[in-house]
Amino acid sequence: MAKQPTPILSARGVRKTYVFGAIPVEVLRGADLDVSQGEWVAVLGSSGSGKSTLLHLMGGLDKPDRDGGTIRFQGTEVATTHGARLDLYRNREIGFVFQFYHLLPELNVLENAMLPAMVGHWFAQFSGRAVAARASASALLESFGLGHRLHHRPAQLSGGERQRVAIARALANSPRVLLADEPTGNLDVKTGEGILDLLSERHARGLTVVMVTHDPAVAARADRIVKLTDGRVEDEPPTASKPLKDNE
Ligand SMILES: Nc1ncnc2c1ncn2[C@@H]1O[C@H](COP(=O)(O)OP(=O)(O)OP(=O)(O)O)[C@@H](O)[C@H]1O
Ligand SMILES: [Mg+2]
Repeated sequence: MAKQPTPILSARGVRKTYVFGAIPVEVLRGADLDVSQGEWVAVLGSSGSGKSTLLHLMGGLDKPDRDGGTIRFQGTEVATTHGARLDLYRNREIGFVFQFYHLLPELNVLENAMLPAMVGHWFAQFSGRAVAARASASALLESFGLGHRLHHRPAQLSGGERQRVAIARALANSPRVLLADEPTGNLDVKTGEGILDLLSERHARGLTVVMVTHDPAVAARADRIVKLTDGRVEDEPPTASKPLKDNE
């Protein structure tokens, strides 16, 4: 029988309201999502349903409303964490793939992918850390089929190539959890499947993945599919789930 997995990331009763002029728009209205250690969860939902918002909150990139629920990483509250502790969470525990890449245009591919390893280590450029970060970022980019693009700027890349750089950057610090917002949204089917295979490999080695997508075929690669509707997460029917492996 499969072991009961340990929760690593937990959103409970999360509320998020944006204000457009005088009109408040409640995007999340008590969203719950528990992600188990080593699990791969796909979050489906229509455009504007709040998928990116939920992912940003879980990654500590934004805050829920006041008294707008809890977000815990290994039992520790993220939503009320600030400063260096929050930076540490975002830099070490979480890898984030943004829906629109957010690559730094003035850095080349290799420098973009090395960035998380260098953040918080201003002296890194003078240390062995830079050498190690460069080597591991190059290897990662190579495995993503970008070995020949290391010294190009993002503006010189196709959308799919930029997306792969963004994923490599998110994995550069070997995070515990990858939060990926439409990681294959800009790729053709074959390239998208290649990316999902790479994520599968990482997942098989213990990476926890929360992946936002609007594509049910992409979502099918996950262990579990949930749907965001009316500001809440509704579970997919059990038939959509695959059982967790014994070691998860
Ligand atoms: N910073 C913001 N300020 C105001 N409104 C916002 C902000 N970010 C998102 N919204 C609004 O919140 C709603 C949810 O946005 P979100 O980006 O989370 O949706 P989504 O499910 O990721 O959509 P898509 O599939 O199109 O990416 C939308 O109506 C959007 O306009
Ligand atoms: Mg989105």
